[in-house]
Amino acid sequence: MTVTSMATEEASLLAPVSHPLDPLTAEEIAAASSILRSEQQLGARVRFETVVLYEPDKKAVLDFQPGGAVPRSAFIVILDNDTASTYEAVVSLDERQVVSWKHIPGVQPRVMFDEFVECEAMVRADPQFVAAIRKRGITDPSLVMVDPWSAGNYGYEEEEGRRLVLARCFVRSSPSDNGYARPIEGVTVVVDLNSMEVVRVDDYGLVPLPPEDGNYGAEFVGKFREDLKPLDITQAEGASFEVKGWGVTWQKWHLRVGFTPREGLVIHNVGYEDKGRVRPVLYRAALSDMVVPYGDPSKDHYRKNAFDAGEYGIGSLTNSLTLGCDCLGEIYYFDAVLNDGRGEPFVIPNAVCMHEEDYGILWKHTDWRTNQTEVRRSRRLVVSSIATVGNYEYGFFWYFYQDGTIQQEIKLTGIINTAAVPEDENPKYGTLVAPQLVGHIHQHFFNFRLDMDVDGGNNSVYEVNTVTEGPGPDNPHGNAFYAQATPLATESEAQRVVDPMSGRYWVVSNPSVMNSLGRPVGYKLMPGENILPFAHPDASIMKRAGFMQKHLWVTPYDRDETAATGPYPNQHPGGAGLPEYTKNDRSVDNTDLVLWYTLGYHHVPRPEDWPISPVAYCGFSLKPVGFFDTNPVLDVPPSANHAHCH
Ligand code: NI
Repeated sequence: MTVTSMATEEASLLAPVSHPLDPLTAEEIAAASSILRSEQQLGARVRFETVVLYEPDKKAVLDFQPGGAVPRSAFIVILDNDTASTYEAVVSLDERQVVSWKHIPGVQPRVMFDEFVECEAMVRADPQFVAAIRKRGITDPSLVMVDPWSAGNYGYEEEEGRRLVLARCFVRSSPSDNGYARPIEGVTVVVDLNSMEVVRVDDYGLVPLPPEDGNYGAEFVGKFREDLKPLDITQAEGASFEVKGWGVTWQKWHLRVGFTPREGLVIHNVGYEDKGRVRPVLYRAALSDMVVPYGDPSKDHYRKNAFDAGEYGIGSLTNSLTLGCDCLGEIYYFDAVLNDGRGEPFVIPNAVCMHEEDYGILWKHTDWRTNQTEVRRSRRLVVSSIATVGNYEYGFFWYFYQDGTIQQEIKLTGIINTAAVPEDENPKYGTLVAPQLVGHIHQHFFNFRLDMDVDGGNNSVYEVNTVTEGPGPDNPHGNAFYAQATPLATESEAQRVVDPMSGRYWVVSNPSVMNSLGRPVGYKLMPGENILPFAHPDASIMKRAGFMQKHLWVTPYDRDETAATGPYPNQHPGGAGLPEYTKNDRSVDNTDLVLWYTLGYHHVPRPEDWPISPVAYCGFSLKPVGFFDTNPVLDVPPSANHAHCH
């Protein structure tokens, strides 16, 4: 794709777009920024945080017929560095004009990538910082890595209204060395990103640099194991999916792929073809935000808790994936087209990987009397992307199975955040992972916004717990237990936590569509591993990431309620997002509803997580429950080479 400048001709503006949910093209991003820039006479010191598709009204999307007119608008967030003000705009690309423009007082847009780069250069050159590292024997500032951590909000008066980050620094021994092996302990640089200047350098005292390197790159490892034989995935006839623009069909599934700078991968309009009809399941699914609270209370670590979507834009930090390394087999890649700080488009080639995977057996039975075996192989469609946020990597994998199951799996890898400790110290709030190097205890909380549409717009939610029947005349032998359903009819009733000991799950059902057994059709949310936060209820992070306190939230659909932490979590004092959305305790019964699932991953670091963590997994599933009349995969054919199976 060629990135053209603002002089783009009208004709090419709409050329590649075929559906109202197609992400903005490079030409559209450039045009939207340029229209806004000229109409509002934006100065040189304006940063574009977001230039993204302004998704049309749900009804317009659902009523859209292929070949019909595709309405195109852009939603834009800008930060004016001169006045420290944030503005939101909607630009109509059809009418080539700004249709809405508002000042959003008292908020901070997320930290932008350009700011990372400028902040690092500025800190390295700061005389007070150079003096602080010199005290620690570091003479070459160009080898210092500066990680800007979002500042949070602790009610400090001098921080009010300033656009701040806290820089935590590490030093490399050479340009390709893993700097996280050597934290510059005790030094925190407070930076104002609006004026791009060092506010102050906090020095909490000298701790020596840890003595050992922590390198994992191939050039450092030297000797590799030699007993791995090739394992090749070949699909001589190609993949079984079809792609048209951003639309995908595969094995009765219909879905659309999307991408935004804040959320990364988005899945739209998911339906499953059944008896000749595509039955909707999900209107939109994406990560809505995430946060990583750390448990160390010391002066230079208590503020560590990054909101990697809302404060950093995990989509804009997405990797360009490589065939044979990140993904194996017949791959289809989607490029992501995003905006830079100047409002110009940039492309992340191969940002989303899609392929099929063999997933073991789908079902099997051997009739022991006749010795006849029926077995089918399972296959899944994988749609994934991987982001690098500073030291960590997060992979987001959506799996679609032939039996109607949708699974979200997060893969956590990369380098743990580290701190240095004096020799012989045994850290309470972390684990020694190398001599004088500690990985602090922390948690990763993800929230997924799942705009459900189970067989149509109006849905209800109920919770299922398995309970033991009390002894009595109906249960004389005490063996009885049963699954008990409880409706969750309002927002407050629907704030729930997991309970693996009662086999708890939640069902989204459509009360107006019955299956052949006369029961409402439904999909259930099956939790996987999960946990609650350990921070004290009064801690700042508990207010700023209030979504962590419940695993399930349900709200009636509102197009402005898009994120568990609200639109601007950066330096927000707290209470935004889900706690605010649900304050009026609205009904969620038989209505167009949104499920929000919070997933906590607990991380007590291990020495095996150093110098790079092997992938850890967590996730959840959406599974049909009475959505189909019977097992929907009886028609999956036996494997072509099934003769060899016997
Ligand atoms: Ni972790």
